[in-house]
Parts: sequence; C-alpha cells; structure tokens
Amino acid sequence: MAKKSIYDFYRMKEKGEKVTYITAYDFYQARLAEEAGIDMILVGDSVARIVYGYPTMLPVTMDQMVVHCQAVRAGAPNTCIIGDMPFLSYEIGVSDAIRNAGRLVKEAGVDVVKPEGGREVAYLIKAIVDAGMCVQGHIGLTAQRIGQMGGFRPQATTAEGAMEVLADAKAIEEAGATATTIVAVPAEVGKLVTESVKMPVYGIAAGPYCDGQVQICTDVLGFTQMFIPRFVKKYANLYEEVGRAYREYVDDVRKGKFPGEEHYDKMEAAEQEKLRALLKKVS
Ligand code: KIV
Repeated sequence: MAKKSIYDFYRMKEKGEKVTYITAYDFYQARLAEEAGIDMILVGDSVARIVYGYPTMLPVTMDQMVVHCQAVRAGAPNTCIIGDMPFLSYEIGVSDAIRNAGRLVKEAGVDVVKPEGGREVAYLIKAIVDAGMCVQGHIGLTAQRIGQMGGFRPQATTAEGAMEVLADAKAIEEAGATATTIVAVPAEVGKLVTESVKMPVYGIAAGPYCDGQVQICTDVLGFTQMFIPRFVKKYANLYEEVGRAYREYVDDVRKGKFPGEEHYDKMEAAEQEKLRALLKKVS
C-alpha cells in the first residue's frame, strides 16, 4: 500500500473516513502496525514511560527520539510517521524548534513532527512550517506540562475550557499545522473541535466524533502493568502471555527440557571418533 500523505488525510476527513493511528517505539511494533494497515504511526514521547520506565515524559531527549524514530521508520517504510518533539526541544525558541524538527526529518525520516501546545506555541509551529516541514499539533492534555496541569487529568471539562481548546485548535491551524491530536477531553469537545477546523483531528480519550483515533500500542496490546484508563480497549493481554512464555522457558532450562535434540547440531560420528583420538594424543 502506498504511503498516505497529509493530503490523503484531508481527503479522508472530507469523505468521513476514519483514520487509524497508533504509537510504535521500535522496529517490530512498527512493522506489525504497517502490516495491519494502520494509516499513521506516532513515535510518541510516551516512549519515556513505556520503554525507559520514567514516571513522566519529561526526561526523554532528542537523541533518544531520533533513535526510536529511525527504528520505526525502518519497520514501517510505507506508513506516515509522526515524530514527537520532546520537552524543551522547541519551547526555547524558533531556531531550536527548526533544528530539532529537522533532526527528526533528516536523521530519522519522519513525515511530520508533533510539538505540544496551543496558542503559546503557534509561532514555533509557523517557524517549522515555514522551514518546509509538516506539523501535527497536540492539544487538550499536554503531558509535557504535567506540573502545571497537576497530573494526567481530563481537560476542557467546562464550557470555558472547551472554548480555550477550540481557540488552541484554530491558532495552530492558522499557524500551518495540517492536523492535530486532541487528548483527554469530553466527547462534545472532540466533536466541536473536529467540526470547527479543516485539518483532521485525531482523538485519544476524546470520544467517537474525531476524524480518527490514536492509541498507545502497549495499552491496546495489554503489554504493561500500568494503569489502563477507561478510554483504552485492550485487544490482547501480552503481559500475561509473555510472562507465561518466560516462566515456561525458565522451567524448561532448569529441568533440562531445553534445548531438546531439535535445537542443536551434532558432530558426525567419524569426527567424534577423530576428536577422541586427538584428545588421547594431548592427554
Ligand atoms: O506520546 C504519546 O503517546 C502521545 C499520545 C498521547 C497521542 O502524544
């Protein structure tokens, strides 16, 4: 299947076709997503919690993001890949924003970069777009501002809050973003934003009315023991399955059941004979 461009996603919005979008952090997660026909892959800064075990997204660096984006690009050469811009890779100023967006594009081959924020980052989005790159926004719950938000909390739960998120969506679209992710807002807010902008809007914990849904791969796969919020649908229980496989492996090795004859090579009888003779000579 040919890789979809930002224009294909506009057309899908016009036709009411839902976009499927999921995170990946490594080669095989990306390959499996591409083989399943996922439209778009996000190398999220959620890599911080899921791969590195940090409590928040804040510690992840540009160098780490580049490496994960490279692995995902290698696994999914024909899928539109979005690279998250990590905390403080763009907020300091326009030249940092362009340079770091450029690293994800040049060194890792992502198609689109994703900084977090609304009106306050619109000028940075414009600078990245003016430099020739595609930007997807990220509004609603912005985990890089976890301190200011007081934790991972639902956003825009009031009418005033909804108007703030709408203003953010309009500002980043005006700045040149060609899509946005919207995180942890009531379904009504997801709908309002989706219907109020031309760019496609991808929701996570934002209800069914968005132009597409984005999920964290390890949530969908049941691969971690992290708290699974209500908005996640678990399609597998890999934590249990991998645990079962590891316990069986440990048991097999301890009991001498692995490796079995089918798992190793044997020397030809004549060579064994020769070896015995050689050993006799040196003993
Ligand atoms: O980093 C991430 O996984 C994200 C999702 C919440 C969309 O930004």
